[in-house]
Amino acid sequence: MKKHNFGAGPGVLPDSAIQKSAEAVLNFNGSGLSLLEISHRSKDFDAVMVQAKSLVKELLGVPDNYSILFLQGGASTQFAMVAMNLLVKKAAYVESGVWANKAIKEAKLFGETQVIATSKDKNFNYIPKGYTVPTDCDYLHVTSNNTIYGTQMKSFPDSPIPMICDMSSDIFSRPVDVSKFDLIYAGAQKNMGPAGVTLVIIKNDVLGKTERTIPTMMKYETHIEGDSLYNTPPVFPIYVCMATLEWLKAIGGVPAIEKINQAKADLFYAEVDSNPMFVGTCEKEDRSNMNACFLLKNPELEEDFLKMAKDAGIIGLKGHRSVGGFRASMYNALPLESVKVLTQLMKDFALITA
Ligand SMILES: Cc1ncc(COP(=O)(O)O)c(C=O)c1O
Repeated sequence: MKKHNFGAGPGVLPDSAIQKSAEAVLNFNGSGLSLLEISHRSKDFDAVMVQAKSLVKELLGVPDNYSILFLQGGASTQFAMVAMNLLVKKAAYVESGVWANKAIKEAKLFGETQVIATSKDKNFNYIPKGYTVPTDCDYLHVTSNNTIYGTQMKSFPDSPIPMICDMSSDIFSRPVDVSKFDLIYAGAQKNMGPAGVTLVIIKNDVLGKTERTIPTMMKYETHIEGDSLYNTPPVFPIYVCMATLEWLKAIGGVPAIEKINQAKADLFYAEVDSNPMFVGTCEKEDRSNMNACFLLKNPELEEDFLKMAKDAGIIGLKGHRSVGGFRASMYNALPLESVKVLTQLMKDFALITA
């Protein structure tokens, strides 16, 4: 039985992408060689890189004056790399959860940081709003979706300074106006592919403002000039990203997946709000369509619910330790059917334990 994978990341991927990638590992393009044993500078791999980039550009509508990079080190490396390359004196951060905090911690290594808004007072269960973006900072850093707490920015500020966004857990899940941002980064392992590659979309003219000496591999210019091939790129993760984005394009692209994601989230939250056993943890207006955090009103029943979920083929529901309870991650490749199975389980659980 195929599992219903609600894991927060690495997350569920489309069957077609996994199948295609498995075939490429065994026999790439009928060449008699594995994708894993060919040169990253070969014509065949070059075609993969070109296709992956062009799908990112097409699906997100990336303007021509931006570079699209596939880097290593995860989104966590971007926390430092952003600051190293862009922080001259002071940077503004919105503190909306653990990942934003980690980004702030790294930026502090390179300059001053100003937390211009925070939701720490309520354990990050809402998105900070109503702040003014200071004009004396080098950039504003925001996190579009807070994977651990289950909150999502529904709109982005009109920033008078360059805006940087960590979109690790909701990239490609809804249309975004890329031109509002100067740099977007995202670890691939939620909506885009496997762990091991990080997408960076960067406006070319945002660079070159710091005099800092930056190690070669940590400099965006290195990877822009090298076309993500300065060193050996993670060929397999890039291939899986390409196959995943091909799937996304085939089902109608980002506007189509947004509708599906909305339907999944509506179905799920309607159940949480009507089921007497459960309660959501976040402010309703800020609830994430990707990660839904919820609790049992009687926490003593948690193990029973998880056991029943496991028996129904549902995995990955246990909440992050800083929130507790449960988290249902509903990334792009999770079928609506899986959410139907989960909501039915919640109904059944309420009936059995009433
Ligand atoms: C929003 C967000 N940012 C950053 C990270 C860290 O990503 P990585 O593990 O690729 O360094 C995660 C991981 O879950 C995340 O959800």
